[in-house]
Amino acid sequence: MYGNPVKWLFFILTSCLAFNAVISMNTLLTRKTYIVQMDKCAKPESFTSHLEWYSSKIQSVLSEPQKEGNVDEEDRIIYIYETAFHGVAAKLNEEEAARLEEADGVVAIFPETKYQLHTTRSPVFLRLEPEDSTSVWAEKLADHDVIVGVLDTGVWPESESFNDTGMTAVPVHWKGICETGRAFQKHHCNRKIVGARVFYRGYEAATGKINEQNEYKSPRDQDGHGTHTAATVAGSPVRGANLLGYAYGTARGMAPGARIAAYKVCWAGGCFSSDILSAVDRAVADGVNVLSISLGGGVSSYYRDSLSIAAFGAMEMGVFVSCSAGNGGPSSASLTNVSPWITTVGASTMDRDFPATAMIGTGRTISGVSLYRGQRILSTRKQYPLVYMGSNSSSPDPSSLCLEGTLNPRAVSGKIVICDRGITPRVQKGQVAKEAGAVGMILSNTEANGEELVADCHLLPAVAVGEKEGKLIKTYALTSQNATATLAFLGTRLGIKPSPVVAAFSSRGPNFLTLEILKPDVVAPGVNILAAWTGDLGPSSLPTDHRRVKFNILSGTSMSCPHVSGIAALLKARHPEWSPAAIKSALMTTAYVHDNTRRPLKDASATTPSTAYDHGAGHINPMKALDPGLIYDIEPQDYFDFLCTQKLTPTQLKVFGKYANRSCRHSLANPGDLNYPAISVVFPDDTSIKVLTLHRTVTNVGLPTSKYDVVISPFKGATVKVEPEILNFTRKNQKLSYKIIFTTRNRQTMPEFGGLVWKDGAHKVRSPIVITWLTPLI
Ligand SMILES: *[C@@H]1O[C@H](CO)[C@@H](O)[C@H](O)[C@H]1NC(C)=O
Ligand SMILES: *[C@@H]1O[C@H](CO)[C@@H](O)[C@H](O)[C@H]1NC(C)=O
Ligand SMILES: *[C@@H]1O[C@H](CO)[C@@H](O)[C@H](O)[C@H]1NC(C)=O
Ligand SMILES: *[C@@H]1O[C@H](CO)[C@@H](O)[C@H](O)[C@H]1NC(C)=O
Ligand SMILES: *[C@@H]1O[C@H](CO)[C@@H](O)[C@H](O)[C@H]1NC(C)=O
Repeated sequence: MYGNPVKWLFFILTSCLAFNAVISMNTLLTRKTYIVQMDKCAKPESFTSHLEWYSSKIQSVLSEPQKEGNVDEEDRIIYIYETAFHGVAAKLNEEEAARLEEADGVVAIFPETKYQLHTTRSPVFLRLEPEDSTSVWAEKLADHDVIVGVLDTGVWPESESFNDTGMTAVPVHWKGICETGRAFQKHHCNRKIVGARVFYRGYEAATGKINEQNEYKSPRDQDGHGTHTAATVAGSPVRGANLLGYAYGTARGMAPGARIAAYKVCWAGGCFSSDILSAVDRAVADGVNVLSISLGGGVSSYYRDSLSIAAFGAMEMGVFVSCSAGNGGPSSASLTNVSPWITTVGASTMDRDFPATAMIGTGRTISGVSLYRGQRILSTRKQYPLVYMGSNSSSPDPSSLCLEGTLNPRAVSGKIVICDRGITPRVQKGQVAKEAGAVGMILSNTEANGEELVADCHLLPAVAVGEKEGKLIKTYALTSQNATATLAFLGTRLGIKPSPVVAAFSSRGPNFLTLEILKPDVVAPGVNILAAWTGDLGPSSLPTDHRRVKFNILSGTSMSCPHVSGIAALLKARHPEWSPAAIKSALMTTAYVHDNTRRPLKDASATTPSTAYDHGAGHINPMKALDPGLIYDIEPQDYFDFLCTQKLTPTQLKVFGKYANRSCRHSLANPGDLNYPAISVVFPDDTSIKVLTLHRTVTNVGLPTSKYDVVISPFKGATVKVEPEILNFTRKNQKLSYKIIFTTRNRQTMPEFGGLVWKDGAHKVRSPIVITWLTPLI
């Protein structure tokens, strides 16, 4: 979400105050959903099934009134988890939850949390060009039996992106099913959509029964987000994809030969952790190879974030998990989904934009972007009266923001109105302007958005402009007696330089949980992405938008995540033996950090180049990832050993170690020694520590006999030495280890960024390096 965070916070605070008094009286008695993790191995012999045992545990803690008379433990348990996670989700009051936490066999108990979809809706019209490298490659790899589970809002099965013509039969090992419900029948699954399931018990427990008049209680996607992400992962090619006659091209997913299984976990009222956990558990049991999860939120710790725990279980079962990094940028430390066993994906632009201009009465032309020119095109020769309802003070007010009910038709009718970004969705401001009779809108960025432009499919002709030029137009409108303007729309422009650029909204590092694990892992296209759309909602997602389109354009890390999920599916198809960590390593060590002008990747929110805190290892490079030369592999036990360095209590560690009966091997001296493809070294505030050594092991997946030399970028604050400097491989899958010795020369106040590359003449295996010197707290 874009918008003014300060005002939002204020809004949230004021509405909370009103309810606080009421809530506190009832909290003890109110039932909420808790996820209860159980020690599967501790089941006494006397119980024939785990469910029976779990039920008896829940029963044993219920408050008195429920113990007598009608036993309602059937109602209390809403999910049983048995694959990636073990336990139940149950409705309990606070007292019951506290008692259960003490009970034998209970590993951990977490309250239900709400997660958000990581999208910033940015529907646009565009002409889709196939991504040259990936599409060529995708053709070659069609028809491999890789199944990607997409946790989202469901699917719109009639979309041509899910046409299964030419696909082979569903693999026999697939155990998923097609759940039916309103407007979703068995025949809506096919050889492309091989599974569709719904998870709503946590949602209903939190918000009340789904009103089936308003919401499909079935895998059908009413929102569009799930259709868009699923099609981005593995949509079949659709020729002549076009929007209202504007766009034209072939739309296709990253892995058009892969299968999709839709797990609907997000509903009109949000996405809930017990539902998400159940979907991951089910998906792993169904046999997915990759999970694509474009949502986040949750809790900022490894052991309390159920998505992190579920992903650990999925990873143990060999499933690659790709998650969106979040849209909290450009604030630093705004990442979500930072667990090292998850692939965390940030967003960047493509080489395509949608120019439009506003020419004001002085003759000055201001450039911006737009994806909607209107049905009756504004005359570019005529000037229209221009009006701004705000003042020249720098803070926006309700009418400058064009909030609902703030625009007087007498003042704006027949005019072009200037609206500030913030508080309400951008397209909604256009709707307010349109309803007040405006003929057009200039949408101005404020300080919060700077110069990053987002093109939208507005309901009236509109041009989005940056903060600086927005200010200029506003001053003109306020100071001229009869200010005028006209808008012009220039369509789609390709070959934009520079690109890619890290999107301003893409969440940034550092990784607040563990500085030694660099996050995000990579960036991928996430701005103005065209993919299939629901038939239930217009492209602006506003209920008043009666337009219906087969494709829509969205922006967000929600869109970049499925790109990586699709590419991971292709890697899995080509290298079925690769672990999730090996796939991630291939994506990271082949990523690039220069744009199409050969300069370091830029950051849309800054004038300085982006750093590894913005782009991780860089922008994915699918062709190269196919043949990375070397990989940094990580076993599930290695991740557990990493957790052992994270100051978790034995109980908290059990959350991860229970099923494989894991215990700490104490093999990692330092969390930075996890065999991660990125290197982050942290000098403690104790200035007497001047030398730190990290360890890595690479596996040769290239030619059996190969010799790699290392190249390290220079750092101001430290010398970096690698031992040995040459790696001689003599066979395939051979592992060789090396040490990286960091010696502080001159402590820096800011982290320093660089990289280390192993080269054999054919491959460049790059790891980003971050060196941080902690400053003593005074
Ligand atoms: C699927 O694609 C095939 C081949 O392009 C076409 O003949 C068929 O009509 C399509 N099916 C649907 C339901 O659109
Ligand atoms: C706002 O406009 C008024 C009148 O035009 C002017 O006197 C004042 O200096 C302006 N304030 C700012 C902050 O530009
Ligand atoms: C601007 O408005 C004034 C009076 O409102 C009028 O005299 C003048 O001609 C107008 N100028 C233009 C360029 O339309
Ligand atoms: C778990 O591992 C420990 C030590 O490695 C062993 O003593 C114990 O028997 C194992 N428990 C199970 C249930 O496998
Ligand atoms: C690797 O092989 C080269 C010759 O190709 C040799 O000079 C070098 O010492 C070897 N290095 C190691 C670490 O084995």
